[in-house]
Order: sequence, then structure tokens, then C-alpha cells
Amino acid sequence: MSERLEDIAVQMMAEGKGLLAADESTSTIKKRFDTIGLESTETSRRDYREMLFRADEAMKKCISGVILYEETLFQKAADGTPFVDIIKAAGAIPGIKVDIGAKPMAGFPGETLTEGLDGLRERLATYYKAGARFAKWRGVIAIADGLPTWGSIKANSQALAYYAALCQEAGIVPIVEPEVLMDGAPGTHDIAKCAEVTEWVLRTVFADLYDARVKLEGMILKPNMVIDGKNARKASVEQVAEQTVKVLKATVPSSVPGIAFLSGGQSTEEASAHLSAMNANYDMPWVLTYSYGRALQDSALKAWGGRSENVAAGQRAFAHRAEMNSLAARGTWKKDLEKAA
Ligand code: 13P
Repeated sequence: MSERLEDIAVQMMAEGKGLLAADESTSTIKKRFDTIGLESTETSRRDYREMLFRADEAMKKCISGVILYEETLFQKAADGTPFVDIIKAAGAIPGIKVDIGAKPMAGFPGETLTEGLDGLRERLATYYKAGARFAKWRGVIAIADGLPTWGSIKANSQALAYYAALCQEAGIVPIVEPEVLMDGAPGTHDIAKCAEVTEWVLRTVFADLYDARVKLEGMILKPNMVIDGKNARKASVEQVAEQTVKVLKATVPSSVPGIAFLSGGQSTEEASAHLSAMNANYDMPWVLTYSYGRALQDSALKAWGGRSENVAAGQRAFAHRAEMNSLAARGTWKKDLEKAA
């Protein structure tokens, strides 16, 4: 496997593949497990992630990389095989979430600043040794009355840029994720507002990446789609696709090899439909694919329900979503394929 940043980034964007975001922090995975009434322990987290990573066919066909939480990067499957080895054996690249969370931002009520730069150079060296070849940092921007502020956009953007520079120094491809929330409170903004804020955020992020001397060829962008708030959803698939492509074309340099969307609270089918519509209908200079958490995992989590006898059912559900999103990455997803399954 090549170790050049550019080549790793291209492998992450392999045709018909995308990223599995399985990097839920301990507090986030607890929330997910609460929905199936399962206690979150080191063992239950291991069993759940082992089910996903051992869905061999789906992994081989549809997943180019897996974003892990630190615990999982160093964790072993029940039979003692390191998860990193299982992921690599499926032809996927292990990655690691390196931010330590969006924390309330001092002086900016209702906004957050993502932390984790202190000691990051040393942590990256450890993660590289453990096999990670890409990383993720998520900055969070909320839309509400009077929000976001320039202060919070700028602070989050500068943190993303310096994180990306540190990753590249360590031989790790940074996924730069500035997420404009669709499901933050109150979630009543329209798609035009999301377009305006997303454009403002992406312009700022690419200016800061340039100032930080980040090589755009050796990074991946993980943005939100341009979509109305979760409590005001009415934009059509075509509108979401059109507005998202428009904002990306206005802000993302063509030297960026790929864009891998987060799902952000869209339903599993919406996330596939939107991605497919963009790839089917627009010419773009970058590969456009998925880096979904919930939109790849929700149905698998439900089908599994925390029970060992349901592992095969959970894997089937995961394989179906992976397959649907793989089609979407090629622009060939169709709604009736969902029904057929
Ligand atoms: P969702 O697709 O569930 O939004 O998660 C992706 C992710 O990694 C958010 O940081």
C-alpha cells in the first residue's frame, strides 16, 4: 500500500466505495445502544463493531475505509484478532477520530469549539504506529436565531486547519469535517439559510487550510449536504442535490480529490437518494461519496438488537445499506431497489 498522502486519499475515494463512520465516542454509542435497550460496555461495543467489520462482502465491495474511535483502534475481536487487521484484510484503510469533542465555546452562548489540538502531534504518531492512515476532526456549526457567529466559525475553522497540518506532517490524511447541523435546535431553518451558512463556513475553511499550508491533494472534505432543518424538512431530492453541488462548486478547489458526506440525521433512504442524485446529474471535479455513520448503521443496529443470534441479520441490514450507498456513489441508486430488498 502506498504511503503518499495523495495515494491514500485516492484509495479512500475508490470507485463505488465510501467510508464507514464507526467512530462514535463512548457517550454517543451509549445513546445509540439506548435505542435498543443495550448497556454500553467495552464488550458490547466490541461485539457490535465486530459484526460490522466482519460483514466481509459488504466491506470488500463498498467500504474503502473505517473511521474508528480510539478504543476500537486498539481493540481486538472476540477471537483475539486486532480490528485493524480485520479491516485491512477486507481491503479497507483504518482511520481514527482525533478530536476530543465539541465543547461549549467560552463567550459564545449556544456555540461550540472542537478541542483536541494539545498533544495531538504525539497522539498522531501513536495512531500511525497502530495502523491509522487517515484521521477525522469534526467542527460543529449550529444555525439558530442570531447563530452562527463569525467568531465561532473562525475558531472552528482554524482548529480544523491546524489539525490537518499536523496530520499531514504525520503521514496521515486528514478528513476535514465542518458540519453545519440539520438536527441542532431548533432545526427550523430553510434550505436557503443552510446554503448561506455552509458557503460561509466552507469559504472560511479553505482560506484557513491555505494559510496553514495544507496540501489539498492529500485531504478529504466531509461536509453536510445543503438541506433544510430537521423540523422543517420539505426540500425535494433535486433541490438538495442542486443546492449542495452549487455551494461545493463555489467553495471547494478542484485539487481536493474527494468529498465524503456525513448523513447528519437524514433518513437512510434520503442519504442514498441525495448522493445518487448529485452523482447522476452533475459533472464535478471531485469524487463524491459517503462517510455515513447513522445512515449506514441504523438498520443494522436495530436488526442486531444486541443479541448474538441476530449477528447475521445485522450484517444483512448493513450490507443492504452499504450496497445502496455504493450505487448512490455511482449515481445509480433507485428507490425500487429498496423495496426489492
Ligand atoms: P452521521 O453520518 O451519523 O452524521 O455521522 C457521520 C460522522 O462521522 C459525524 O461526525
